Amino acid sequence: MRVLVTGGAGFIGSHTVVALMEAGHEPVVLDNLSNSRASVIRRVGEITGSAPEFHEMDIRDQEALTELASQGFDACVHFAALKAVGESVEQPIRYYENNVAGTISLLSVLLETGIENFVFSSSATVYGIPQSLPMTEDMPIGEATNPYGQSKIMMEQVLADVQIANPTWSVSLLRYFNPVGAHHSSLIGEDPRGIPNNLMPYVAQVAEGRLPKLRVFGGDYPTPDGTGIRDFIHVVDLAAGHVAALEGLAGKPGVHIHNLGTGRGHSVLELVSAYEGASGQPIPYEIVERRAGDVAESWADVSKARSELGWATERDLIDMCRDSWGWQSRAK
Ligand code: NAD
Ligand code: UD1
Repeated sequence: MRVLVTGGAGFIGSHTVVALMEAGHEPVVLDNLSNSRASVIRRVGEITGSAPEFHEMDIRDQEALTELASQGFDACVHFAALKAVGESVEQPIRYYENNVAGTISLLSVLLETGIENFVFSSSATVYGIPQSLPMTEDMPIGEATNPYGQSKIMMEQVLADVQIANPTWSVSLLRYFNPVGAHHSSLIGEDPRGIPNNLMPYVAQVAEGRLPKLRVFGGDYPTPDGTGIRDFIHVVDLAAGHVAALEGLAGKPGVHIHNLGTGRGHSVLELVSAYEGASGQPIPYEIVERRAGDVAESWADVSKARSELGWATERDLIDMCRDSWGWQSRAK
């Protein structure tokens, strides 16, 4: 398949481009490099043997996008978005503009150019506070606690409506749990600007000695060790989930929703301890107040993805920490 990959120079996008190429597909990357670097494309080429076609472009540039999309694609995988939760609270217009208006602009071009297979990066954040665990795809959409989460809920709704109006479309909504880790080559990984918001990149910088200590948000959750529990998923497994969704769902009309996680939860302190083991470095931490908007526990029911996409994760928490550390400690 020839696949238009928006945001393909980013963390999850770049790993998915590698997976697509390794599966014999032809990804074409579109990215405005607002949160990534062009060197990622060269590094993807080092992994796969040839760099993918790359266009520095914004999804909101309708003219350029129409010209590119007219070249003919079988599918579009849409990663391009802004994703910093705290920033979205401070700059809601920028987030809705980029994520929601950007997606609408992209969809109108796809409609015009006849690209009918669409894979969307959604998030477990759409469930809000889980009603039960593990989280299943048929649980109702919850309340978003920030504009970033709200933008994901809004885009899922827009996509469902577009599919109703265009019944031949195949829309795949992939709800990621907590993507972490890096490619085992240490050539690509997550490269957050400034101080990381998310747990594993923060822990990685503490292990490296760039940050003095981790602040663990909340030690009084109703969990075995009192810290939050998440379903961490290796980004390479997540990337494989996109290939499975494309191969399994392209040409199958409808809105297809799948959780992408391991189906297992690990606590913040379990992750800290695994990272210490993988890196051989101490991770000093202190337990502080809970972070506003956090849920106590989140993990996925992955049976639907397994049965419908034939996909399951292969990497565990140790692999995630080892590959994250390989990337973090690479020669820079
Ligand atoms: P990322 O920031 O590394 O990648 C996003 C890419 O999109 C970047 O390369 C950025 O330059 C590009 N981009 C942003 N706005 C653009 C625009 N208007 N036009 C063109 N390119 C644009 O983030 P990521 O972690 O790889 O996330 C990818 C997708 O997955 C996002 O939609 C994100 O919301 C979603 N998601 C991520 C997580 C996570 O924990 N990383 C969890 C759930 C969902
Ligand atoms: C967060 C976002 C979510 C987004 C996801 C991926 C919030 C409320 N949720 O999810 O919308 O989809 O990132 O980008 O921001 N933790 C610490 N110390 C830290 C960082 C995190 O203790 O410095 C804890 C958190 O309290 C949580 C766990 O680690 O229990 C995971 O946090 P994080 O990596 O930020 O992911 P989520 O909160 O699941």
